Amino acid sequence: MKRDLSVTVAGVKLSNPVIAASGTYGFGEDYAGLYPLNLLGGISCKGLTAEKRNGNPPPRIAETPGGVLNSVGLQNPGVDAFIKEHLPFLKEKADVVIANIAGETRDDYRNIAEKLDGTDVDIIELNISCPNIEKGGAAWGVSADGAAAITKTVRAVTKKPLMVKLTPNVTDITETAKAAEAQGADCISLINTILGMRIDVKTRRPVLRNNTGGLSGAAVLPVAVRMVWQVANAVKIDVVGMGGITRAEDAIEMMLAGAKAVQVGTAIMTDPYAPLKIIDGIELYMNDNNITDLSEIAGKVLPW
Ligand SMILES: Cc1cc2nc3c(=O)[nH]c(=O)nc-3n(C[C@H](O)[C@H](O)[C@H](O)COP(=O)(O)O)c2cc1C
Repeated sequence: MKRDLSVTVAGVKLSNPVIAASGTYGFGEDYAGLYPLNLLGGISCKGLTAEKRNGNPPPRIAETPGGVLNSVGLQNPGVDAFIKEHLPFLKEKADVVIANIAGETRDDYRNIAEKLDGTDVDIIELNISCPNIEKGGAAWGVSADGAAAITKTVRAVTKKPLMVKLTPNVTDITETAKAAEAQGADCISLINTILGMRIDVKTRRPVLRNNTGGLSGAAVLPVAVRMVWQVANAVKIDVVGMGGITRAEDAIEMMLAGAKAVQVGTAIMTDPYAPLKIIDGIELYMNDNNITDLSEIAGKVLPW
């Protein structure tokens, strides 16, 4: 029997719940030769800044047990080049296009969102893990005030569905989630990478030129599931879960914790077909368990 894998997130219908995560899928161009991009529920594009950025100097990516540590530093062509050179291709090939945006000041976020508001991007995802240079450089998303400020700033200039992407590098993830919800976010996505560091014992130098970086991949799954569960129980808006999903079972776990949809990032770096395998696996699970649609899974973790 054909199962219904569609889900609605922030008012936008996705044909299935699997989205390529920002920063691990570029603008889809490298993958379009492998399979039709519209097989994915959606694509979250590489984080966009006001101007082109070359990112951090290398080494900026390192393998680590069960994961990846990266300090790519938001390398991207800038929002104008995205709109002109990448968005038309994406809109033609993909079903749902999510523009992930980043900035150091409220003006950065406002300007980028205003530009995207005039395009046919389906959802704007706010990456609030960027340093707040208005306040000493800690990430916007480490405080409820910072999360609220960015959400409010962007909400004021666009009616597009807003997905606020939380950083896990906080004491209580529900505080930033609730702050974003109160300022008009339509959806919360989480988690971004977990701050980490490795040192090469031969050279005695940090492995990354930037000293620290963000940890992602299978190793972070339990942290992500815990945070998705906490946030899903704290807000009324939709939740999109990510962090360490490499198999269909991981995606289902994330949905049971409360996510309506999931994003897959690091897994794509070793297997570009990972999202498709996850979609197939979800359908198999639905068949095996006689599940008609995914509302029977989302948030349905059973209490002890
Ligand atoms: C190389 C790399 C680049 C990333 N770039 C971005 C980015 O530009 N914007 C963003 O919001 N998240 C970015 N992320 C974070 C991912 O979107 C995702 O939140 C995180 O990696 C956890 O999911 P995963 O374990 O499936 O990779 C990046 C992750 C990696 C590994």
